Amino acid sequence: MTGKRILLIIGGGIAAYKSLDLIRRLRERGARVRCILTKAGHEFVTPLSVGALCGERAFTDLFDPQSEFDVGHIRLARDTDLVIVAPATADLIAKMAGGHADDLASAILLATEKTVLIAPAMNPAMWAHAATRRNIALLKADGVRMVGPNTGEMAESGESGTGRMAEPLEIADAALRILNASSAHAEKPLAGKRLLITSGPTHEPIDPVRYIANRSSGKQGHAIAAAAAQAGADVVLVSGPVHLPDPAAVKTVHVTTAHEMMLAVKENLPADVAIFAAAVADWGIGEPGTQKIKKTTSGAPRLTLTENPDILATVAQLKSGRPRLVIGFAAETEKVIDHAKEKLERKGCDWIVANDVSPESGVMGGDRNTVHLVAAGGVESWPPQSKDDVARSLIARVAAALKESRT
Ligand code: CTP
Repeated sequence: MTGKRILLIIGGGIAAYKSLDLIRRLRERGARVRCILTKAGHEFVTPLSVGALCGERAFTDLFDPQSEFDVGHIRLARDTDLVIVAPATADLIAKMAGGHADDLASAILLATEKTVLIAPAMNPAMWAHAATRRNIALLKADGVRMVGPNTGEMAESGESGTGRMAEPLEIADAALRILNASSAHAEKPLAGKRLLITSGPTHEPIDPVRYIANRSSGKQGHAIAAAAAQAGADVVLVSGPVHLPDPAAVKTVHVTTAHEMMLAVKENLPADVAIFAAAVADWGIGEPGTQKIKKTTSGAPRLTLTENPDILATVAQLKSGRPRLVIGFAAETEKVIDHAKEKLERKGCDWIVANDVSPESGVMGGDRNTVHLVAAGGVESWPPQSKDDVARSLIARVAAALKESRT
């Protein structure tokens, strides 16, 4: 981190006291730290103590003629390598998601083109609220990075749950990882490469109001698309029905059925790499009703299933125009690696990312994933990590493989 410039925005929350320690931790690692205190942040720590720890005065208000004269909010937003928001309160997160700019902190967050790392801190009920969930999903889609919040005792006596700000050391480590990766990313390892990615479930209609679906959330596929775009790739994401925003800087094609997904994939080839993370329904209804099927006295209707096209196998076995790297996913509930190896062979792809989706694993719909990368050469088991980290590791492996196959 030596010589890196970090802009630390301190929001108003009891966790603000930990931000004083964070300043020390970042400076110990060689970073130059500048601080902005929001109006609410002021209530918890003083500009004097923040300034003393940073070694320069803390900035406080958008219309502070002194700070505008010295540097100006646009320069503060640009003259940095990373922006950290700690504590990121529910209110500050909502302002970021809405693109507000009515004070110095929010104006900088809107003006900056640098990576933003937030360390949320709030009461567990506020963290769990649908509005916060929505805002966090938006920020993630915008490429904002997050550390924590952790689970445990809250400052309010007797309260516990998820909402504690990550510890200063965890935040400093996350910042270090981002700064290291961004120096590697500076050359955009996938620039000029086209990636085609599928994500989410498919819905197979029974009649105009009913359909067959599965529990895929699309989180892993969308995270891969976002990581590929961040690595400079030209990304097309073919997504089934999901409750996720389209990732930034990605062309997203929305489909419903497996047949539509197959068509959209064909239309968006050729690609250098194809990653099939969608949980495509293996079967659809032969002839979905054109009108709602009515309940009758003669018993339940008989549904005839027909096999859907296997998109991964079709693309992996293309005679001409096959992507250089075709990657499938294997969602298994038992014998994960054995099934993945068999799938690799049967479908003809280059790699399979295998994961355990048994209900105990919490993978389906959850934020974490434990995967095994299965290729002809062997199996690599990755430690449990967030779906965002799985996505970044996979994209780094893709970039390395493309580089290797060129030489
Ligand atoms: N897949 C696909 N098209 C399908 C079915 C699956 O592209 N019609 C892709 C998925 O996107 C995933 C991989 O194939 O990358 C594995 O899917 P999975 O459903 O786990 O495998 P199946 O072929 O259905 O095998 P099984 O039913 O034995 O699990």
